[in-house]
Amino acid sequence: MDNRPIGLFDSGLGGLTALSALHSLLPAENIVYFADSGRVPYGAKTPKQLRKMAQQDIELLSARGAKAIIAACGTISSNAADVLEKSDIPVIGVLKPGVERMAETGGAAPLGVIATAASIASGSFERELKKRCPQREIIARACPDFVMLIEGGHREASDPLVKEAVEKYLRDIKAAGASAVLLGCTHYGIIGEAIRDYLGAEVELVSASECAAEAMRDYLVKNGMCGGSSRDEFYTSASAESFAATARILLGRELRGSITELPVMEVEA
Ligand code: DGL
Repeated sequence: MDNRPIGLFDSGLGGLTALSALHSLLPAENIVYFADSGRVPYGAKTPKQLRKMAQQDIELLSARGAKAIIAACGTISSNAADVLEKSDIPVIGVLKPGVERMAETGGAAPLGVIATAASIASGSFERELKKRCPQREIIARACPDFVMLIEGGHREASDPLVKEAVEKYLRDIKAAGASAVLLGCTHYGIIGEAIRDYLGAEVELVSASECAAEAMRDYLVKNGMCGGSSRDEFYTSASAESFAATARILLGRELRGSITELPVMEVEA
């Protein structure tokens, strides 16, 4: 038994899609979650800043006893893969599990990927998908408004701002007849219903968050590292009250532990 917590970090609410998946797959595991809401959006940061932030976030969770970490952030996973790999404790990003699942979707139709501006600019999602599916057309689109809409409380499929943004960013992917779309930003599952409504039920939505949670389960099982007592600990670099209130709504239940505010960490411009 390894009762140390699994660490998770993100720029805010997005990592909750991975947390929710972990709760279902490994209900006993303890979790330590860092919501770096004081620095949201990560998708507008430079690759240099993102690499530094990845290091800071990993150190923060290591210092709180994490046995392994999910970088529950597509922007970090696509811009700082080497930082994740070099970490002293195992870190699983969302990019690789997500693209591997996409490669398993059949057919010859184009594949779509949506993620933050920094993720798409890194080219990592496209490159990794192309490696695994050389015959398929890949349509990658940045959706720069999604994260701040979601963080700002626009999450319902009926919300006109959400609908408008979904149509704007997914138009090309829909027109190309993509058979599957990778949600390469962990926030996007929160507006999954709006995306599904627009694309239609026949298009498979692949959640990079859920794929990463499954990869974590497989890793812990394989290495005999499972344990825990169903307790979570939350940290945020913005308002604890506001994060806790939204997390309760998104998780559909009371938090399984305390939430603590931390100062915003410095990162050079
Ligand atoms: N949820 C994160 C991602 O998966 C970060 C979004 C952001 O802060 O821009 O990319």
